[in-house]
Amino acid sequence: MSSDQDRREAVLAALFDPDAPPVDTGWLREIFRVEGVQAELIEREIELERQNHSLREAQQFIESVLASISEVLVVCAPDGRVQQVNHAFTRLTGRTGAEVIGLSMTELLDPGSRHLTTHWPALPERPSACEREVRLLDHTGRASEPVVLNCALRRDPRGDAVGLVLVGRPVGELRRAYRRLNRAHHELQQAQQRILQSEKMASLGRLVAGVAHELNNPVSFVYGNAHILRRYTHALGDYLGLVHRGVDPQVLDRQRRALDIDDILDDLPSLVDGMVEGAARIGEIIRSLRHLSLRGGQEPEPVNLAAIATTAAHWVVKGLQQRPEVELELPERLVVFGNAGQLHQVLVNLVQNAVDATAGHPRPVIRIDATSGSGHAWLRVRDNGPGLAERDLPHIFEPFYTTKDPGQGTGLGLWICYEIVEHHGGTLEATNGPDGGALFTLTLPLSG
Ligand SMILES: Nc1ncnc2c1ncn2[C@@H]1O[C@H](COP(=O)(O)OP(=O)(O)OP(=O)(O)O)[C@@H](O)[C@H]1O
Ligand SMILES: [Mg+2]
Repeated sequence: MSSDQDRREAVLAALFDPDAPPVDTGWLREIFRVEGVQAELIEREIELERQNHSLREAQQFIESVLASISEVLVVCAPDGRVQQVNHAFTRLTGRTGAEVIGLSMTELLDPGSRHLTTHWPALPERPSACEREVRLLDHTGRASEPVVLNCALRRDPRGDAVGLVLVGRPVGELRRAYRRLNRAHHELQQAQQRILQSEKMASLGRLVAGVAHELNNPVSFVYGNAHILRRYTHALGDYLGLVHRGVDPQVLDRQRRALDIDDILDDLPSLVDGMVEGAARIGEIIRSLRHLSLRGGQEPEPVNLAAIATTAAHWVVKGLQQRPEVELELPERLVVFGNAGQLHQVLVNLVQNAVDATAGHPRPVIRIDATSGSGHAWLRVRDNGPGLAERDLPHIFEPFYTTKDPGQGTGLGLWICYEIVEHHGGTLEATNGPDGGALFTLTLPLSG
């Protein structure tokens, strides 16, 4: 280099020295050419360095992307040899890229899964055919948890297939979570069944206790009267024996007073009336319960709730001496899925209660209206009676809860309504309307 420099300086000096002998300029041209090549080389080196740097950056970017993918990734050559795996693969199997690169794809699989993918290199044009649930082999030679593996063709920019990309989603945790969920759901269902069962038993227990309590009154009444009647029968028998034997009238009179025959005769009608009343009450309770036992007899079917409400209202007020005004604001058809007889029973009970509540009103009015929406039918029964007292409200749906005088109501009406409506998948709510009277809202799922 330094000799080049010397030579170049000598040439330059000779060029500008008028006394110097003529110079061979071939040297000069050669030196300039070499310098040009050197500069070009340096430029190329710089460019190469720049490209190298961007390549490293791109590689780091791709590696960080691959590392952050939670799915297992395996890249294979067209012949199925592994070219690259990602961190998720290493995490799942414990095998590093260095251990598996170059192996055949099927060697990554548990022997039990190998048959599932034999056709893959030939078939990945159809993505749906390329999804399989497989197990990979881990570093100890055991099968990993299940992975749903999807195979796709890798293509070069010209569109030619240059390999396969396998993406696997581990589903073991998902399966376990699903099983846990299933178990929890099953346990929940069982718990619900138990609660339902115990709820049924409790409500049955309440009903039985209520029935026993209600029957106890008239039964002990009838029983007590029957006892007295038996005693009276003896006295009357003795007295009638004396009459038949034709004993002396004075003796007969004495015996009549001694046996209290006059008091007995006075007492007899009220005793018998009491027994008849008691028996009637027992019959009433049994009739109410029989309505309930009708449940489940008929198959549910689409029924027009509007028509049922109209019939029930007319049916209740038909025989009344003082008829309330019945206002019906019902659509022509309001079809719910249920048992017509039972729903009729509900409407009859609600209207009957409204009739009872408005009995003392100078201008009793019962209004029934209905509407539907969001898959449900709503039907309201309102009256202009005194409304529901706050202390009664929490109890009115309980069996045998009544505020009516003895013999006027069993207190089973609303309880039966509630049970029937609940059985139909609906609700029955009680409140007081804006004008003060009671307002019952019945909600039932629409048919279809
Ligand atoms: N429309 C109403 N207005 C005011 N109170 C009502 C109305 N409907 C029901 N109630 C109250 O709810 C109580 C319970 O009603 P339910 O229909 O269950 O029994 P009941 O009418 O007393 O007897 P039963 O229906 O067996 O003849 C009634 O005694 C009454 O106090
Ligand atoms: Mg009633």
